[in-house]
Amino acid sequence: MREGKGFKSTFGFLMAAVGSAVGLGNIWGFPNKMGSNGGFAFLLIYLILAVLCGYVVMVGELALGRKTGKGAIETYQILSRRFKWLGWMATLSPFLILSFYCTLGGYCLKYVVLNFGNLIGASWGTNGLSGAEVFSTFMTNQSEGVIYGIVFLLLSVLIVMGGVRGGIERFCTVGMPALAVMLVVIIIRSCTLPGAAEGLKFMFMPNFEPLKENFFGVLATAGGQMFFSLSLGMGIMITYGSYLKKEDSITKNALTIMIFDTIVALMAGLAVLPAAFALDPNGSKGGPSLLFVTLQNVFDNMGPLGGVFGIIFYALVVLAAITSSISLLEVIVTHFTDVAAAKGKGDKRKAYSLIAALAVSALMVLVCLDGLGSNGLWVPGQKLVDGVWTITATFNDCWLDFLDMLSEGLMMPLGALFMCVMISLELKPRVVRDEVEASGHKMKIYGYFKVCVSVITPLLMLLVIGGQIREFFF
Ligand code: PHE
Repeated sequence: MREGKGFKSTFGFLMAAVGSAVGLGNIWGFPNKMGSNGGFAFLLIYLILAVLCGYVVMVGELALGRKTGKGAIETYQILSRRFKWLGWMATLSPFLILSFYCTLGGYCLKYVVLNFGNLIGASWGTNGLSGAEVFSTFMTNQSEGVIYGIVFLLLSVLIVMGGVRGGIERFCTVGMPALAVMLVVIIIRSCTLPGAAEGLKFMFMPNFEPLKENFFGVLATAGGQMFFSLSLGMGIMITYGSYLKKEDSITKNALTIMIFDTIVALMAGLAVLPAAFALDPNGSKGGPSLLFVTLQNVFDNMGPLGGVFGIIFYALVVLAAITSSISLLEVIVTHFTDVAAAKGKGDKRKAYSLIAALAVSALMVLVCLDGLGSNGLWVPGQKLVDGVWTITATFNDCWLDFLDMLSEGLMMPLGALFMCVMISLELKPRVVRDEVEASGHKMKIYGYFKVCVSVITPLLMLLVIGGQIREFFF
């Protein structure tokens, strides 16, 4: 434990951890993946995976982090002989994710500005164009994309420079409750629109047809989404766990994080899907454009108040995205500050935060320039056909999809899978139990944890990884 540098209160820790978990994955990813994967069926599989895999991995990561009191790289180096390299993978994933996360965060910032333009009738509002037209114009405006991405990254780095307590905890303690309030406002608006009931039915009426049609597809998408949404398999919960106090209960905190994350994902579904069904019945209910095209159409159709709701909604997404991007940056920064502190050089947090952000910005600029594949940039795996770079599989549709495949598709589930193998075969599950019980309470779920971490979770994760590979490559 780094004296005086960890979280000041358990509430602060929870807000930061929930802040990390709740982000674009919940508000952008969950509704659109639920929309294109059969609604209720997706929800069901998601919940099962969260209980059998997500919770177990989260408890494992928090316990390992608190045990060593170090970031992901050192934690694996200290604890394991065979899995030392896992820490590096767990630090590379946040780097890749940040590059597209900040790009999307920048898009949300742009939409706050756009809706503000609508509110005051400025020429930089939607200006009578449809949601699809506005979005495609923005995607091909490369310099604008880069500028918004950089602004978003700068905001994140400023908070991380302030440290875990002064920056991250302070920001999340105010930001997360504010987010909940804004979300409720949007839900009330969305669910009271005429025609919203169709969207509610789609979400909650039991319907198992999609599972019969494409079980592996739904399983893989729900699995990837679950890891991403809970910030697992990439050193974040190890890093945040290392700042956790010994008297705090790991099992309770993990459960709280999971419940909040799921509630916010469902709330985002309630904010987005009923509105999409009500105001744009023929529009797309799934895919990445749901947030930027379908929803912007929804706000444009609301009359004069549309601008206000638009600003609230996209500001909310920016807020959620920032509390996640700071956790991604923190994984990288913690490693270097720990090393500097061990060499007696102070922690050099500010310098390392800036260096990390600079490194991220190199890849991020590429993702911004690509504009979700709108600008003809080459993506790894594409083939040259008649002088044009041509997509060969879903993973090389655009740079964002390629980096998403590497991180969410492969590195995160593999990271979590190997962590389970390390715990069950090398360390033995009792190491986690001892750390959990260091708070003075018995680990009541030890039997469940042991069976899951050694058998059920790894098996399910293998299925998810197999499904992801099939989705991305074939
Ligand atoms: N969990 C975050 C979300 O749902 C994204 C994230 C992934 C954050 C991985 C940190 C680590 O948007």
